[in-house]
Amino acid sequence: MDLLESIQSKPLPKHVAIIMDGNGRWAKQRGKLRTFGHENGAKSVKEVVEASAEMGIENLTLYAFSTENWKRPKLEIQTLMRLLVSSIRKEMASLHKNNIKLTAIGSLNTLPSNVYKELTEVIEKTKNNTRMTLTIALSYGSREELLNTIKEISIKVKNNIISPEKIDESIINEHLYTQDLPDVDLLIRTSGEQRISNFLLWQIAYAELYFTDILWPDFKKLDLYDAIIEYQKRERRFGKTSEQLN
Ligand code: IPE
Ligand code: IPE
Ligand code: MG
Repeated sequence: MDLLESIQSKPLPKHVAIIMDGNGRWAKQRGKLRTFGHENGAKSVKEVVEASAEMGIENLTLYAFSTENWKRPKLEIQTLMRLLVSSIRKEMASLHKNNIKLTAIGSLNTLPSNVYKELTEVIEKTKNNTRMTLTIALSYGSREELLNTIKEISIKVKNNIISPEKIDESIINEHLYTQDLPDVDLLIRTSGEQRISNFLLWQIAYAELYFTDILWPDFKKLDLYDAIIEYQKRERRFGKTSEQLN
């Protein structure tokens, strides 16, 4: 049995989320501009998306740009947006061919109009694909998402569409940007930082966390396999005792 088959013989996480961090440091180590790191990070995205689909992961969510990242130098933001448009355009055909559905979460209305247009085209084109849902978190912040959720539910309460007593976890889930996605099972962060940086706070309540020192542009298929293998060794108890699980 090869490595992939052995991974596939055990339960896979249904939803993997990745904080793709370390592009800037990767470039700096090479005496290059941060943007060079982002360009190489895009290659890791392609490899990890393809490896995830091949493995049989149903949902992959990638943190590409946070609400806080708008505070970065203008030139870096411009490069990131340009890279986004060119990657989306370049990968559209292969996403579709691989039966991958693209979606996006975040305050998408704050994106430059060309990015928004390119994104919505691919989302529309791939919406009926079924092998894997690839969600890109763009101008995404978990607190912004929760605020938006609270506002939407409040309006429905005010208009007597929802009664306050009926508000439960499923109503919250339905109003989050991630509404159609299951909870995150495995959260990966590269680059050695051990923090969440405003990513999917509600959705990772019971996720397994996996931190690696590898910088994102160096994170490839085998590194993803390592993360999944580690996940498969964990005992997820969800509050129960170990004995109860067996
Ligand atoms: C991740 O790499 C990409 C984005 C946040 C857009 P960074 O750009 O944060 O790289 P480091 O953390 O500075 O090395
Ligand atoms: C988190 O990385 C956001 C993305 C990976 C898109 P950052 O590099 O922005 O996070 P902090 O600010 O170091 O926590
Ligand atoms: Mg960073």
